Amino acid sequence: MSLPLLTAVTPRYEAQLATRLDSSRAVHVVRRCADLAELLGSAAAGIGRVAVVSADLRGLDRAAIQQLKDHDVLVLGVHRPGDEGGERMLRRWGVQVVLSADAEQPQLEGALTELVSSPQHDDGQGGSAPGTSSGGPGSAFRDRPAHPAPDRADPADGTGQGQRDEAADETDRHEGEGPSSLDALETGRGTVVVVWGPVGSPGRTTLAVNVAAELAEPDQPVILADLDTYGASVAQVLAVLDEAPGVAAASRAADQGSLDRATLSRLAIQVVPGLRVLTGMPRPDRWPELRDHAVQDVLSACADLVPVTVVDVGFCLESDEELSFDTTAPRRNGAALAALEVADHVLVVGAADPVGLQRLVRGLDQLAGVTAAATTVVVNRVRAEAIGKNPARLVREALVRFAGVEDVILVAEDQAGVDAAVLAGRTLREARPSSPARVGVREAASRVTGRELAAPRRRVLARRAAAV
Ligand SMILES: Nc1ncnc2c1ncn2[C@@H]1O[C@H](COP(=O)(O)OP(=O)(O)OP(=O)(O)O)[C@@H](O)[C@H]1O
Ligand SMILES: [Mg+2]
Repeated sequence: MSLPLLTAVTPRYEAQLATRLDSSRAVHVVRRCADLAELLGSAAAGIGRVAVVSADLRGLDRAAIQQLKDHDVLVLGVHRPGDEGGERMLRRWGVQVVLSADAEQPQLEGALTELVSSPQHDDGQGGSAPGTSSGGPGSAFRDRPAHPAPDRADPADGTGQGQRDEAADETDRHEGEGPSSLDALETGRGTVVVVWGPVGSPGRTTLAVNVAAELAEPDQPVILADLDTYGASVAQVLAVLDEAPGVAAASRAADQGSLDRATLSRLAIQVVPGLRVLTGMPRPDRWPELRDHAVQDVLSACADLVPVTVVDVGFCLESDEELSFDTTAPRRNGAALAALEVADHVLVVGAADPVGLQRLVRGLDQLAGVTAAATTVVVNRVRAEAIGKNPARLVREALVRFAGVEDVILVAEDQAGVDAAVLAGRTLREARPSSPARVGVREAASRVTGRELAAPRRRVLARRAAAV
């Protein structure tokens, strides 16, 4: 049986290739697409069963290949003669049958036979292993130099292809940061910890930043990734002067199949020895740049590189797919959902007040449907003023009664300490080592890794813990 075939190949070899393909008995050319958009549209419309794509087709990336496969289209990759990089890239993106664009008829026939007889792949095994600007008002108050990043302007205004090109640009600029001590690090698969909590700013970022800081040691590095698509703030909190978001650059590199250890360690800016940050989207409207599969590739690459990756995500877990028939469209909550899907451990943070606790109980219900990871519940800002005398007991009782959760970590309210740390662009460990909030934060850090943390410097910490 001859299968309908689509081509999307750069002009130089297009005509010659189409003629050869058309004389094959395995396929017949039904459409010669001018660009990637036409190819994807034709595949979605079910017009072709096989697609021939060239490595240098504008806009082609791993996501596009996956889309073709999702539409049950077999993909044959071609590259310019001698272009080993193009061949490697296609294979990394999961294209299994690849040949030179000037291949003779017998080679082409062989490739088509191999393709047609192979089972459709959707294993994604190619691919890579698997910024917020702080120039805003906050910076003016800071009393220490911010963590610099090379000269980067925020190229956020573009959309579509323009935006993608700008993102590529960001990758280049990030890559100018010089060598990294991570290159020498040998790790097995690290732990991915996602910090999630319901709407109402319960303290996801505060917990993520400080858990990461407690775990980070020069010989046990941690990457803190800001994947909050509603209001990224890690760069602000840590005074990272990064106009070009690290997560966008890393996602882009993952899409291109070029997210290797060296690239990732350049993109993740070091803020203190052992603590590195992949900054988030400076403008929430750039969320479409964080595609689910690329996010998972980035986290997988992080896990290959460092023992612990801590991820700050947005509050919303609704799947937009339920609201839309276009299942290939990006989803605003996709980054959070994708991170939760690959997480090893989730820290679920809720606020210690009546509204916060009610949201936490509902959130735990919702979370159960989107992750299979181990979860630890953390209740933040525990204080008598919000729920009454003996707040720790009240929080524990409420969670047992309404959520069946017996094991909960409490983080004390410390407005002055947390404010001072943010103002200085530092972590509690650096700026307020005696903060009572550190006790719960350290307990959470130790729980997610199973690692005993070195004793804090000050005894006062233990004394204050008793007060929570
Ligand atoms: N233990 C604490 N004691 C005092 N203040 C705290 C504590 N934890 C967080 N805060 C403060 O609460 C506010 C919200 O915290 P944070 O930004 O971490 O929440 P979030 O859940 O990440 O919010 P968003 O929805 O903006 O992402 C911040 O002003 C922070 O400084
Ligand atoms: Mg936040």
